[in-house]
Formats: sequence, structure tokens, C-alpha cells
Amino acid sequence: MIKPLHLGNKTFPINIIQGPLAGVSCSPFRKLTWQYSRPAFSCTEMISCNTLLHQPQKRFTYIDPKEGPVCFQLSTDHPKELAEATKHVTELGADLIDLNCGCPVNKIRRKGAGSSLLTDPKKLYQLIYAMKQNTHLPVSIKIRVQGNSDEKFNSEIAKVVSDAGADFLVVHGRHWTEQYETPCRHDEIQFFVEALSIPVIGNGDISCVGSLQKMLATGCAGVMIGRAGVGQPWLIRKLISELADEKFEAPSLEEIGKMFIEHVLQLIDLLNHEKLAILQSRKFAKYYARKLPNKTEFCEAINYCFDFSSFKKCVDDFFENSPIVPAGGNGSNQRENWLNVEKLKE
Ligand SMILES: Cc1cc2nc3c(=O)[nH]c(=O)nc-3n(C[C@H](O)[C@H](O)[C@H](O)COP(=O)(O)O)c2cc1C
Repeated sequence: MIKPLHLGNKTFPINIIQGPLAGVSCSPFRKLTWQYSRPAFSCTEMISCNTLLHQPQKRFTYIDPKEGPVCFQLSTDHPKELAEATKHVTELGADLIDLNCGCPVNKIRRKGAGSSLLTDPKKLYQLIYAMKQNTHLPVSIKIRVQGNSDEKFNSEIAKVVSDAGADFLVVHGRHWTEQYETPCRHDEIQFFVEALSIPVIGNGDISCVGSLQKMLATGCAGVMIGRAGVGQPWLIRKLISELADEKFEAPSLEEIGKMFIEHVLQLIDLLNHEKLAILQSRKFAKYYARKLPNKTEFCEAINYCFDFSSFKKCVDDFFENSPIVPAGGNGSNQRENWLNVEKLKE
């Protein structure tokens, strides 16, 4: 059920969150998601506390005045460093703070951070406690499931999260060794929901109203969307409408192309480096092109673009000239609703 979400001392009007995605979740992405979907909040990508404190970069720390609430996601295995970083992001204007305890990447695990924290409950306790002691904001950890609940691994994590005073828990229903081909384990998410009195946010494989309903059936207080939010900033509104059995008018391909261009323009602005922004934007192509009939050709063509003008021409050529429109929209009269680029620039 879509309902208000109470996390620590904050209440959000809806219980759908846009989750953290490394290389994607900087301000332009969050701002577009806010403009078209109004999620409860959006997350930054995982930010190393060491980088944040010693080599801060605008692309990680910038919050646009026109975006919605932001949850900063931090990464470290040092409680003292986390305490400092927690104070720092509180001052930067974070609305919530999360610690990454799910990253499966070896480089992160070798440092004792990410999902490897799940094997060190004592450290995990100290880290959550360090966050709680250094901010008034709601704090959480985002985990992968650590095993099967009957093996007691997950119950140990649940106890630490609760004892250390986290305000909520985000659970991605996969073990760190599992790839995306392995389906999300809703039963383990439900285990955390039942084991904890704090809100649990369910995450994994939500992309349509059916997968949203399946996650909500775990009894979770809210859900987090990951990959499906990339290239369709309207997704959360679409899910809410469809859950309520209301008709949803999807944007036309032409409008999606314009959203992509707007995303790139904002990235150029943030990075203050056209070529870098263009190179980074290439990886968004497959997401924005989900409904494009000649998606493969588009994704190939975009790889030959090195500056904004060739990038824009490529997007315009493919998105404006395509006769196919996405299901649910006729593409003719939705410009007013969907794409007011000028509004974004206000
Ligand atoms: C490209 C990519 C980058 C990600 N970066 C992060 C990250 O920085 N922090 C994090 O907690 N999870 C990260 N994740 C995991 C997602 O937040 C999410 O937990 C996972 O994709 C499952 O949700 P989904 O099926 O809705 O995508 C990343 C996933 C992908 C695919």
C-alpha cells in the first residue's frame, strides 16, 4: 500500500524511495526523479568517508535547491571516520544518512566495508552508534541478506541494527555472492520485517506494479527502486497510478529524448566538463532507450559522440523520428504535462 513513511523524526508523504546507484545518483538524476515522481527521497551513490573528508568532490556532495529530500549514503569501516562524515553531511544539508553494508565489490570488501561488515556484528554496532551520536537525522544501513534466517545470520544482523538504534533498515534481498540473475529473496526481507520494530524498506527487482505488489506483500514499510528508475524518472508516479487502477499517460519517445538531453545538460553543468559528462552519459543510453525500436543502433551510435552537439543530434535523430510510442501514451498532447524543460531551468 502506498502510504506515508515515518523514519525516525521525519515523515514522508509516500513510501517509495529512489535508491543509490554508483555513477548515476548525483544531483541531475535525483532532480529529474523529483521533478517527475516526487519520491519520498533519493539517495546519493555510496561515498567513501575518506574521500568525503579529504578530497571532497562536487559531483558527490552537491545538492540542488530544486531537488527533493536526499539521503547521503556513506562507506567506511572506521567508526571515528564515520562520526566525522556524519557531522559533515548533516552540515551539507542531508535529510537522512545511510551506511552501505551491501556492496559486493571486492575492492570495498577487502577494506572491510560494504557487505563484509555483515560478518562483523560488533563493528556494525559501533558504526551505527557512531552515526546516531553525531546527527539528529534519521540513520539507516542498507544491507544485502546475509544468509537464510534459519541459519541465524540474519537474526544476528537484525539484533545489532535494533540494539544500536538505527531508525530504519534497507534490505536488498540478495546475498553478496548473488548476481542479478538470482531472483530477489522476498522471504528473507519478510524475516527482517517480522524481526524488527523499526521500519524495513524492501529492495530488489521492482520495475512494474506486479513486482511492487510482491515487495509490499512482505509487510515492508516502504520500497526502494534501483535500476528501473534510470531513464524513466516518471516510474514512481506510474507505479502509484497503476496501483490505484488509474490510467497513466506515459511520455512519448520524443519527450523521453528531451529528458535525456536535459539530464546530460545538467551533468555538464555539475561536472563543469563537457567531454567527461558526455562519456558518463553514454551508459544511460540503454536505459533511456528501453522503448526505442532501434535501441541497439542508438546505443552504438551514442558511443561515437564526444561532445554535446553530436550527442544531442544523435538523441534527436533517434527519439524524434521514431514512429513508435511507449505503451500507455499517444505522445500527442502530453508535452505540457511531461516535458517542460524551461521549468527545470527556472
Ligand atoms: C550500477 C549500480 C550501482 C549501484 N550502486 C550502489 C551504491 O552505490 N550503493 C548501494 O547501496 N547500492 C548500489 N547498487 C544496488 C542498488 O541500490 C539496489 O540495491 C540493487 O540494484 C537492487 O535493486 P533493483 O533491482 O531495484 O535495481 C547499485 C546497483 C547497480 C546496478
